Amino acid sequence: MTLKRTKIVDINAPELVGKQVCVKGWVRTRRGNKHVQFIALNDGSTINNLQIVIDLAKFNEDDLKPITTGASLHVEGLLVESQGKGQSVEVQADMVEVYGTADPDEYPLQKKGHTLEFLREKAHLRLRTNTFGAVFRIRHHLAFAIHNFFNDRGFFYLNTPIITGSDCEGAGDMFQVTTLNINDLPKCENGCVDCSKDFFGKPTSLTVSGQLEGELGATALGAIYTFGPTFRAENSNTPRHLAEFWMIEPEVAFYDINDNMDLAEDFIKYCVKYALDHCKDDIEFLNKMYDDTLIERLEGVLKESFVRLPYTEGINILEQSGKKFEFPVKWGVDLQSEHERYLVEEHFKRPVILTDYPKDIKAFYMKQNDDGKTVRAMDVLFPQIGEIIGGSEREESYEKLISEIERRGIPMKDMWWYLDTRKFGTVPHSGFGLGFERLILFVTGMSNIRDVIMFPRTPNNAEF
Ligand code: 4AD
Ligand code: MG
Repeated sequence: MTLKRTKIVDINAPELVGKQVCVKGWVRTRRGNKHVQFIALNDGSTINNLQIVIDLAKFNEDDLKPITTGASLHVEGLLVESQGKGQSVEVQADMVEVYGTADPDEYPLQKKGHTLEFLREKAHLRLRTNTFGAVFRIRHHLAFAIHNFFNDRGFFYLNTPIITGSDCEGAGDMFQVTTLNINDLPKCENGCVDCSKDFFGKPTSLTVSGQLEGELGATALGAIYTFGPTFRAENSNTPRHLAEFWMIEPEVAFYDINDNMDLAEDFIKYCVKYALDHCKDDIEFLNKMYDDTLIERLEGVLKESFVRLPYTEGINILEQSGKKFEFPVKWGVDLQSEHERYLVEEHFKRPVILTDYPKDIKAFYMKQNDDGKTVRAMDVLFPQIGEIIGGSEREESYEKLISEIERRGIPMKDMWWYLDTRKFGTVPHSGFGLGFERLILFVTGMSNIRDVIMFPRTPNNAEF
């Protein structure tokens, strides 16, 4: 009878001790002497390796030669309590089958402690390291937490289109989608590209946000959230920007900005708590290896309520800080990461929700305040990260929205379907977007966003 495979994450069960077990995985290390060999086996289910003990009296040495770092194995043997330090159980192997070898002259992950830069060049294999195993298990658990959070609160998961004809943020940072031959473009009489000959018969791009469609959902189903890939062709080469990233965008009818802030705060705290509860081994590993203040920082976020502060007051604090910033601050400027981090890490020492930004540095759809200068925007600013969430109460007045669209010169005919939300049964509503990779950065304590997504897309880089 063939033995059923046990995942290494499940191997510590007391009822398995003293039984024959079957395990499968990849060799992390092999060491030993003439009499006994020890293999650290990992199958990806947990950060913890399982020790396989090979008594050389029972094996032919030549058969063991292909067992090198990276090779894949099928092992059967007796599970016993371990005599060695660092693990509670180990397998005394009776049978070892090598599925696939990994030539030590070629397999790049030989030693421990490769740099993150080196591993970025081996991104197709880096999931097999402790660090990336931990990061990607945490990424999974956070995705799960997000669906749980919204599902528990009666939000509906809405899948908005990836290919779109509209620019939600109005920033023009969009990747064009075309099937035209770019070396031989059809032209109109006036010399412009004839997009009517393109696949969709009009210009299209990859979406920068699902919000506009999300608003259609919210004003019909009441409360929705999106969770999907978004694309930005901004030339930002920073540790916090990707050209392709995942965003979660809840949108809720009848919510004002205060409800929106409550939701954002509850949401992030839920995710952080979920990770602490479900990813203990992985977070402890990252805390030990990279940043021994990680767990403290995560627990800190749970304890304190977020500061809620108007932009204008934030600018006052920055101006009076006496600090020399690379980008000088004055009312009207968009905040840079250094400003956001000063407020969070040095001034308040806890997360800050900054509200009521100048309208000219925010998108067209935000609700206008009575002062005529600011809009009901809210950015959630986090330690180490800066902006983790951007959102707002939405302008529900048809007239005010139209005049803002005109003022900005946004092509009205592309917006007709969106404007219908304000024309037919308009309601106050609010929403926000959380950058998934920025949340993962915070929870893992990693410092570069390229290390929390499988294959990062950044300017001049779409390898793999
Ligand atoms: O502030 P943003 O641009 O807001 C929107 O897109 C709104 N439509 C959201 C909404 O109200 N429904 O982006 C939202 C969040 C940011 O706070 C940040 O966390 C993340 O998305 N983000 C990025 N993450 C990685 N790389 C980039 N280039 C990002 N740009 C934004
Ligand atoms: Mg923003």
